[in-house]
Amino acid sequence: MNPTRIIIDTDPGVDDALTFLLALASPEIQLEALTTVCGNIGIDKTTRNALSVLELAHASHIPVARGCADPMLNKLGNSGDAVHGTSGIGKSNLPEPKAQPIEQHAIDYLIERILAEPQQISLYTIGPMTNLALAIRKDPRIVPALKEVVIMGGSLRAGGNITPQAEFNIHADPHAAHVVFHSGIPITLIPLDATYKCLLTSADIERLNKIKSPIARFVGDATAIYMDFYKKYEGFDGCALHDPLTLAVIIAPELFTFEDHYIDVDISTGVSMGNTFADFMKVTKKPANIKVALNVRGRDFVELFLERMETLSRSIAD
Ligand code: BDR
Ligand code: CA
Repeated sequence: MNPTRIIIDTDPGVDDALTFLLALASPEIQLEALTTVCGNIGIDKTTRNALSVLELAHASHIPVARGCADPMLNKLGNSGDAVHGTSGIGKSNLPEPKAQPIEQHAIDYLIERILAEPQQISLYTIGPMTNLALAIRKDPRIVPALKEVVIMGGSLRAGGNITPQAEFNIHADPHAAHVVFHSGIPITLIPLDATYKCLLTSADIERLNKIKSPIARFVGDATAIYMDFYKKYEGFDGCALHDPLTLAVIIAPELFTFEDHYIDVDISTGVSMGNTFADFMKVTKKPANIKVALNVRGRDFVELFLERMETLSRSIAD
């Protein structure tokens, strides 16, 4: 079977970086480009981080298009620093990227790529969805042309990780999420309900680092601050593989329990701004707009992730 062709829209970010590595390590996936957005950290750093991780993985031929520096209406907070470190990617010492971002803005790049090959490209959004929402507003012809969008974001029954009710990516730009959720594009949502079941532990990092490779070292260094954060605030040894889990939609869909629901997002400015909610009881009678992963065999995914990181590490050894 031909690999699934994807563009990842991203705000790297520790787990974003791990997502690029997993995509590169997966023969089922053809990673065609990265488009960057502000989120975990500002746009200069997310763009540089994207380029640096590609450099580290010997994949600097993959184009990176720089996107939006601000959410649609709100201001970007700096809460990502505590989770991802001030560089955006933990304590990692990433190489200076030799490649530059392409000239085109991410919004225009997405429009051009999607319209050039209708129904061929899947978009994976693992940061705030500002770029996609504005691309839809700028050229709605992309709606029927995009094959699907797979989103890491939201929380239906699991509570929030940035406010008690909201997940980070959706909270950072709830208006963008609102545009995308109601766009009519086929959507698969991977919320915290599933991602918190996928915990990479310090024992996993030790296992990976038996291989002497810049990739294995990077995974350890990148996740160190992330794991400290989880230990301090969430009380467990490990970190959630939020963004990498989106790729299981391609490489291991059998791990998920999916349901179709009508899902919306709170764009008011109150305490529940950014809250995503599903009409589980069908009270609105609105048709389902989103396929959502409410459960996943988390440890099986972490094992798969580790195997792929081991293979990639062996191919880029010291
Ligand atoms: C999401 O927020 C970010 O901090 C992570 O990179 C992930 O995309 C999890 O809520
Ligand atoms: Ca992210």
